[in-house]
Amino acid sequence: MKRFLGSNRLRTAIFISGTGSNFKNLVRFSLSKNAPIKINLVISNNSKAKGLVFAKQKKIKNKIYRFKNVNKDEKNILNILKKNNIKLICLAGFMKILSKNFIKKFQGKILNVHPSLLPKYKGLNTHKRVLSNNDKFSGCTIHFVNSKLDSGEIILQKKVKVKKNDTPKTLSKRILKQEHILYPKAIKKILVNL
Ligand code: GRF
Repeated sequence: MKRFLGSNRLRTAIFISGTGSNFKNLVRFSLSKNAPIKINLVISNNSKAKGLVFAKQKKIKNKIYRFKNVNKDEKNILNILKKNNIKLICLAGFMKILSKNFIKKFQGKILNVHPSLLPKYKGLNTHKRVLSNNDKFSGCTIHFVNSKLDSGEIILQKKVKVKKNDTPKTLSKRILKQEHILYPKAIKKILVNL
C-alpha cells in the first residue's frame, strides 16, 4: 500500500455549514501519523458555522460563500480550489446542493457523509423518518457524490441499533460518533485507488 507522508498527502478541502464536528475529526485524522490527507482549505456557506472558529484557531485557510448566486459562488470556489491545488473535497454537514457542472469538474473526488443507511432515507430529517417507521437499525454512509442527491457509490456504511426510547436527538448523537470513525476509514479505503 502506498504511503502518504509529508508533502505526498492529498490536498483536501472540507465543505461545512454548521457545527463541524466531522470537520474537526478529519483535521485530527489528517494530523495523525501516515495520514493520507492534508486539510488545506475550509469552505462554508454560513458565516456563523461553528466549524469556522476551529478553522481559524488551527490557522486553516477558510472562505465563506453564501450560495445566494450559486453560479458565481461555484465559479469562485472552483478558482480557489485550483489555486490551492485541491485534489479531494470532503463534504461534512454541508447543506447546499452542488451543481452538476461543479461535480463534473471534481468527478470521483467529492465525498459526503450521510446519517442513514443509504439508499434509505436520502435527504433531510433522516432520524425522524427512521423513528416514525419503527426501523430497528439506522446508521451512516460515506459515499462519492454524483449529480443525484445522496445517490453516489457507497464507500462504507456502519449500522447503528435504534433503541426503544430514542429521539431524533439521541439517535443522531450515537450515529454522529460512528460518522467520526467511518469517514477516516473510508478515506483510507479509497485513496489507494485515487
Ligand atoms: C452529520 O450528521 C452529517 O451526517 C449530516 O449533518 C451532520 C453534520 O454534523 N449531514 P457536523 O457539522 O459534522 O457536526
